Amino acid sequence: MKKTCLTALIILGSYFAQAQKSNIPSSVKNVEAKVDSLLALMTLEEKIGQLVLYNGSWDLTGPASNLDARQKEQNIKNGRVGAMLNVLSVEATTEAQKLVMENSRLKIPMLFGYDVIHGYSTIFPVPLGETASWDLEAIEEAARIAALESVANGVNWTFSPMIDVSRDARWGRIMEGSGEDPFLTSVVGVAKIKGYQGNDLSNPRTIAATAKHFAGYGFAEAGRDYNTVHLGENELHNTILPPFKAAAEAGVATVMNSFNDLDGIPATGHKVLQRDVLKEAWGWEGFVVSDWASITEMIYHGFAKDKTHAAEIAIKAGSDMDMEGGSYEEGLANLVKDGKIDENLLDDSVKRVLRVKFKLGLFEDPYRYANKDLLGQLSVKEHMAVARDIARKSMVLLKNEKNILPLRSTLKNIAVIGPLADDKDTPIGNWRGQGEANSAVSVVEGVKNAVGSGVKVTYAKGTDLGMGERSFLMPLEINKTDRSGFAEAVEVARKAEVVLMVLGEDAFQSGEGRSQVEIGFAGLQQELLEEVYKVNKNIVLVLMNGRPMDISWAAENLPGILVTWQLGSESGNAIADVLFGKYNPSGKLPVSFPRSVGQEPLYYNQKNTGRPSSPEHVTFSGYTDSEKDALFPFGFGLSYTTFEYGEPKISASQMSPGEKLELSFTLRNTGKVKGREVVQLYLRDVIASATRPMKELKDFQLVELAPGESKSIKFIIDDKMLQFYSANRIWESEAGDFELFLGGNSEDLKKVTFSLNK
Ligand code: NOJ
Repeated sequence: MKKTCLTALIILGSYFAQAQKSNIPSSVKNVEAKVDSLLALMTLEEKIGQLVLYNGSWDLTGPASNLDARQKEQNIKNGRVGAMLNVLSVEATTEAQKLVMENSRLKIPMLFGYDVIHGYSTIFPVPLGETASWDLEAIEEAARIAALESVANGVNWTFSPMIDVSRDARWGRIMEGSGEDPFLTSVVGVAKIKGYQGNDLSNPRTIAATAKHFAGYGFAEAGRDYNTVHLGENELHNTILPPFKAAAEAGVATVMNSFNDLDGIPATGHKVLQRDVLKEAWGWEGFVVSDWASITEMIYHGFAKDKTHAAEIAIKAGSDMDMEGGSYEEGLANLVKDGKIDENLLDDSVKRVLRVKFKLGLFEDPYRYANKDLLGQLSVKEHMAVARDIARKSMVLLKNEKNILPLRSTLKNIAVIGPLADDKDTPIGNWRGQGEANSAVSVVEGVKNAVGSGVKVTYAKGTDLGMGERSFLMPLEINKTDRSGFAEAVEVARKAEVVLMVLGEDAFQSGEGRSQVEIGFAGLQQELLEEVYKVNKNIVLVLMNGRPMDISWAAENLPGILVTWQLGSESGNAIADVLFGKYNPSGKLPVSFPRSVGQEPLYYNQKNTGRPSSPEHVTFSGYTDSEKDALFPFGFGLSYTTFEYGEPKISASQMSPGEKLELSFTLRNTGKVKGREVVQLYLRDVIASATRPMKELKDFQLVELAPGESKSIKFIIDDKMLQFYSANRIWESEAGDFELFLGGNSEDLKKVTFSLNK
């Protein structure tokens, strides 16, 4: 045993020396050998330590554990902790890292994780909003900046992207993902991973990413957070897993599992998901981190009898690191000693963690991600410019009657009304990293910045939305009684030529634990809107939202609706850019907007059912008191110009395996201003061994056209595009007829057909 250790030490020493001498990034060569050598030196306790993730108690993003700070510090010094979360600032992370480097036997540096979800200090649109840009380059750039600002604060690991497909507007965390479509969620997730991780994890300006939550978390029953998930195998593989497979293929460093149970098995204890699919079938080599105490929470699921039992289930199932739950710390050593788990299983988890640390280059310099020199880079002008750019691209214009938008330059009197109109905090959104409270540009400010001195901009709040203290963990109190501002708002509206009504959701109405049974305007907002409408019908609704909302009344009555989500630091300026036509809106909905909450979960890629609805009978799949389709469908968004889609042509009507088809058509800008269209390609597999959606997004392109300009657009159809998780329980394409649909949203589409011969 001693001899093995000595050999390992020599090998390891020479690797480090070599790496330092020749400056070889540790990610490039011999990572596996280094991992094995180090593992051979480790005691059982040190191995378990690598699987323990502590909260730093700077910031709480879940229920606190019962270890006190001194106990935690001692454990860190003893090398019993592999990573920490919520430790912020160069000083704090350096100090914590020193505890390990100066006291522990093996000096294995810690990872420092944080929820950098849509920016660290420069805040970008909430992920659902960002996705509405469909602009993968812009999304990648935002993530790159978020990584840089994280490193300036000692953070080397982000718990992002969240790639849970979600179809339920009631679920508060829908704001944190990319909406209802697996393809869009996949490509956005990959763009973010590339932005965070770059091409080389050892680059000290990039950080490790986390694809979360594995899996099914976005399908919580009734949209209630942490709730049970019922997912059949077909849906799991065709809808939920594709974004994770794409993330694994893109080399995401870590995956976080999820709180929910999935058909009776908590995801954290789900061997098939974590071990068989993620690690075995996909060959992914990173590590799985539990969600906050999700290992221990298997006790509450009624799946584990105590922490030791929970640890046994989780490690066997492939959960590698225990976030703040204490089960691994408490249970793993005895489980190994009692022979209940094989040490090799533990070794596999430890190796996965060490691999990421080596790839990050932490063994070359444990402090490389605590880069004070970058502190000057926080929220700098260049970052803010990127934030404004992506914010402009993320807005979705849903209605524009009588060309109320863009606002005419001849306007002399503009009213800006509503509880969110001068709100500098809500645009920062939930999961705001270290985005400063009240630091966003408000709509009132943005509009004032945009107009000349000859234009009167009058603001009236009308009513409060959220009241009292607002924070990540506490419920939000909604104002339901105070109408004292109504009269002023009505007066301001009466005198104005146009009214911008800024309504929607407070930042703390969406996010973790923020599920709602109502998705209309909370509090007195609808009432205020209708009062204002009585005196001035020239209203543009500027919607701020972290989820699709029920805006049926507004859609029926108001001439203009602009969805602005929560747009981040530069919100007001970006909104003004769109309102005044400096930027022609190009965003498209990544989620369906329902007619009412009763339609939820609602999504475009539905199946036909055996009884597609018929207007004449009730015995078909629909509702008797509502249309069944969306008020505004997935992929929808207007522009200040119009686009004409020419007839699509397909290069052949038959395709054989290995062949590719070309789909082409001409897109023309038929309006008077330059515009950008998101051209969307959908596919339907008409008859299959397992029922398929009526259409599924398969590809898209962003096309910019000058007025009157035409462009020929091409899409390639290959076998991969036709594959799905079939009745054979594998991904494959099946011979038969296919329909292709092209258009600017998921409903107004032009169709061509072809068949696959096999
Ligand atoms: C719980 C959340 O579900 C997860 O997404 C987050 O990363 C962790 N808490 C850490 O804050």
